[in-house]
Amino acid sequence: MAAADRTVPVSRDELRRRAHDVFAGLHGRVLEVGAGEGENLDAFANDVTWTGIEPDEESRRLLNIEARRYGFVEQVLDARCEDLPLPSESFDAVIATLVFCSVTDVEASLAEVMRVLKPGGTLACVEHVQAAKGSARRLIQNAATPISTRWDGNCHWNRDPVSAARAAGFVDEQFERFELATGVPFLPAPCVVYVGVKPN
Ligand SMILES: C[S@@+](CC[C@H](N)C(=O)[O-])C[C@H]1O[C@@H](n2cnc3c(N)ncnc32)[C@H](O)[C@@H]1O
Repeated sequence: MAAADRTVPVSRDELRRRAHDVFAGLHGRVLEVGAGEGENLDAFANDVTWTGIEPDEESRRLLNIEARRYGFVEQVLDARCEDLPLPSESFDAVIATLVFCSVTDVEASLAEVMRVLKPGGTLACVEHVQAAKGSARRLIQNAATPISTRWDGNCHWNRDPVSAARAAGFVDEQFERFELATGVPFLPAPCVVYVGVKPN
């Protein structure tokens, strides 16, 4: 990212707060992909019917407990975003936080998200992304990715999920860049809040 694009790095709590601000505006049937241990479950409006998919067994066990605590019963599925066991055009929104870095196939995942969304439905996500082309940070991300994919749950430091969402057919509704403090001096992670709409 060019120096002019730099912002003051925010904490993980602030990243979560930014995600929850967006998710609080969603209504109807919401699908969360890569729902982890349920860190987003307190974000939703009362009229939301939530479904979560999570492929990791231990995370899914904790997610089930959290989902029940928030009144979302029997709606946690063992599935991957690339192959959603859900009907087409059945959700008003799909959400994700820090997931498209970890999926096996970003394009296939976004095609599935597009399929299960109703026309006019929204993809809302907060993700870390690749740094600007030619930047030192991009070089570091590219060098670190073979290590992070191996040791950190297939996490790619150098992905561009926003371009992939646009290529899948989503139309931008909200796109904000910010930086996440990583604890490594001078190496915050470039992040985005992205909301895209499935065309009618
Ligand atoms: C960095 S964690 C983020 C978890 C949670 N969304 C959060 O914000 O704390 C990435 C999550 O994506 C899940 N994941 C990995 N590959 C996936 C896939 N192909 N489809 C769906 N979720 C996947 C992991 O199991 C993990 O829960």
